[in-house]
Amino acid sequence: MIRRVSAAIAAGLLVAAGLAGCGGDSGSGSGNDDGKITMGFAQVGAESGWRTANTKSIQESAKAAGIELKFSDAQQKQENQIKAIRSYIAQKVDVIAFSPVIESGWDQVLKEAKDAEIPVILTDRAVDSKDTSLYETFIGSDFVLEGKKAGEWLVEDSKAAKGPVNVIQLEGTTGAAPANDRKSGFADAIKADPKIKVVASQDGDFTRAKGKEVMEALLKAHPETNVLYAHNDDMGLGAIEAIEAAGKKPGVDIKIVTVDAVKDGMTALSEGKINFIVECSPLLGPQLMDLAKQVVDGKKVEKRILTEETTFTQEQAKAALPERKY
Ligand code: AHR
Repeated sequence: MIRRVSAAIAAGLLVAAGLAGCGGDSGSGSGNDDGKITMGFAQVGAESGWRTANTKSIQESAKAAGIELKFSDAQQKQENQIKAIRSYIAQKVDVIAFSPVIESGWDQVLKEAKDAEIPVILTDRAVDSKDTSLYETFIGSDFVLEGKKAGEWLVEDSKAAKGPVNVIQLEGTTGAAPANDRKSGFADAIKADPKIKVVASQDGDFTRAKGKEVMEALLKAHPETNVLYAHNDDMGLGAIEAIEAAGKKPGVDIKIVTVDAVKDGMTALSEGKINFIVECSPLLGPQLMDLAKQVVDGKKVEKRILTEETTFTQEQAKAALPERKY
């Protein structure tokens, strides 16, 4: 920290002497000369079990890689993330990484980082910026594919169903990439079976509490519901409480498919309260630190790095649970 303050003062002196423009240490443009990479990470929040595991992965991997991490929690608010990114720019970190709360509205702050010659890595969630030169790379899942896998499972599972399949969809935070993409992937897949109809679809903000609250209301409005598709485990787990409170059996009266595969979700799956989970891996830390080292070194990296993921049935969840890390 002290070293960074002196680096900032030194950079200020360079400006005063009319020598600014070449940055401090080689390749980073950060003014840091201690050889240690400093990363500013603007996290979405702590909305879910997935996010907690993701934060842990990033913090532990930074430590293991010898990267100094400046970490902020935006509490699911874009304005907080923008403030955090601006503060990382002012602190002249070597690299900025963040998981954007929503997809739109990033161009200005990303341009500020680019002008300051600080490389940006997107993790987990995408931005919709047309100018892809505003970030170095994007590491994370294919959310459309996740939604598609959930829909394909439902199409297969509904083959035996005689009557209509009425789905309540609990969406992630409005405007977030996983909410947009998991919705569209699912919608595409269920087109294969006209019996399947989404009777209600509402924002549950990726949290357990909101999942419960929204499910309570939607169940009253749509008692004919026999399937729940939740964009993450936490909303599904909250909804299970609402289903039980309404005197129905989760996994039987209302079949449930979710995304993530965190321990609590996998436990509910192994108990038959959830019927199928599409995995979304939060363990992005090690790869993120490797990428950070490369971009700070000025190396070219792949623009899109996809996370490998699977799906789980009840039997598969039972087998995987003892080794599950998050
Ligand atoms: O962006 C990843 C999603 O965000 C996870 O599926 C969800 O649990 C989290 O809140």
